[in-house]
Amino acid sequence: MLSHSVCPLDGGWHGTQTEALFVLLAIATIAIVSSTDQTRNVLSVFASSSTPANSYLQDEQGTKTSPTDSAIDKNAEMMMKQGRRIFRFDTFGDEAWWGDTLKLHQALEGAKLGGVGPGVSPKAALAVGLKVDVDALPSGLVQALQHGQANLDDPATKLALLKLNSVVGVTGFFNEQGTLRSIGIQCAFCHSTVNGSLAPGIGHRLDGWANRDLNVGAIVALAPNVKPIADLLGVDEATVRAVLNSWGPGHFDAELPMDGKAFRPDGKTGATLIPPAFGLAGVNLHTWTGWGSVTYWNAFVANLEMHGKGTFFDPWLDDVAKFAVAARAGFANARNQPDLITAKLGPLHFYQLGIPAPKPPMGSFDADAAARGKEVFHGPAKCATCHVPPLFTEPGWNMHTPAEVCVDDFQANRAPDSRYRTAPLKGLFSHAKGGFYHDGRFATLGEVVKHYDGCMSLGLGEAQVHDLVEYLKSL
Ligand code: HEC
Ligand code: HEC
Repeated sequence: MLSHSVCPLDGGWHGTQTEALFVLLAIATIAIVSSTDQTRNVLSVFASSSTPANSYLQDEQGTKTSPTDSAIDKNAEMMMKQGRRIFRFDTFGDEAWWGDTLKLHQALEGAKLGGVGPGVSPKAALAVGLKVDVDALPSGLVQALQHGQANLDDPATKLALLKLNSVVGVTGFFNEQGTLRSIGIQCAFCHSTVNGSLAPGIGHRLDGWANRDLNVGAIVALAPNVKPIADLLGVDEATVRAVLNSWGPGHFDAELPMDGKAFRPDGKTGATLIPPAFGLAGVNLHTWTGWGSVTYWNAFVANLEMHGKGTFFDPWLDDVAKFAVAARAGFANARNQPDLITAKLGPLHFYQLGIPAPKPPMGSFDADAAARGKEVFHGPAKCATCHVPPLFTEPGWNMHTPAEVCVDDFQANRAPDSRYRTAPLKGLFSHAKGGFYHDGRFATLGEVVKHYDGCMSLGLGEAQVHDLVEYLKSL
């Protein structure tokens, strides 16, 4: 069977191959110089500890800074800063789609301010899950919000928030009259939320968190012109709006523009949950169905989902049987001049790998039970065979057939490898809303564990199930 991950054109494999080569070189180097004392010391650090990864991190040897080290440090710092900016604020020119083409900005501002319809008030925007970054607000407005004095029913307030660049993941482009000319979206739209420090939906940014409140479908369905989406999918506009409204909060269907399959055989939406984009360093394949590496997927999303202007190449999308819409639309070889995406992939990748998974709040789980649950996870429940700590996915090719985890193959078959990716488990507490697994089919972690108990005939007792759930909450 031909696998996407061994396709020589796939970024995920290139990464893995390069890393494998690097490791081989490292081993060869150690073998050559292994007679020196220093190497013996390094090797003994690995040999003497049961947690080599941690000892390595604590090893203070070789910390003298050479000019090359300084250059690398400087580069890392710059990439991190650029990447953060791109993740939060870069639209990659996608306002040409969301604003200029779909006219979404007109629905947001409303007829009174030069758009169409009633407009979207801040209250309505918060209700569909949009978030406001308190750090972008002037102190006067923060105080007004604190005292309930800001008019959250007026679309004009919404425009003011957009002008302040405070609406997470959304950028307004304004004309001279101060009304909206266009609108674009960023990665942060779906993959950031706020901590609600000021009010629900208003607070400090939490980059990488899945925004499970965000109703992407309902927002896009507001667009006055959905004809371009209808044309792409080969359906009428009413169907497009019905499909968008069927997604629900926290969902988005990244495969719909590839295969046009809006609904599963059981009639439920084909949209998946928005996954978190934190804690991904060290993880090989990404998305629920392992489309590729982080940077593969970033290029995919920026070009084909957000409709930014860049370059994307993957001949897999010419597979008419699997990706009818993508093949028709030429997504396998997307080219734009100027290219507003490719130069940003490096820093964007770097930043994403830098986002740690958040730690669960104190008191959100029972620590004693979690400690017992850890034993269950590694022992009788066999979870750690696939969810290998500390990545909590397999180092290597982290993919499984639907049958291995006892679920249907609908979503797996919408991706190149027809498999599901072992989901990394850190920070589970932050995306409990909407449920677990790619489509949220399990409302609670207890249901997830019971599913495995049945699927893998584990024979877990009630106490073990309880402890295992507390452990999952502690990750
Ligand atoms: C409209 C919502 C939306 C936007 C905007 C968006 N994403 Fe995503 N992202 C998703 C969904 C949904 C998935 C899961 C797709 C799947 O499994 O098919 C996903 C998956 C991912 C993953 C894989 C996470 C994992 O667990 O492996 C990464 C990384 C990612 N997105 C990064 C980005 C970046 C970077 C951008 C901006 C260039 C971006 N996303 C823009 C919704 C979005
Ligand atoms: C055969 C490999 C395998 C084993 C064993 C396994 N898992 Fe998983 N796990 C997966 C895959 C694959 C997924 C993704 C399923 C999906 O997206 O539909 C997953 C998803 C999950 C999720 C959902 C994560 C999310 O973000 O929604 C949780 C929680 C989880 N597993 C916990 C466990 C526990 C607890 C055990 C042990 C009882 C376990 N897993 C055993 C492969 C495995």
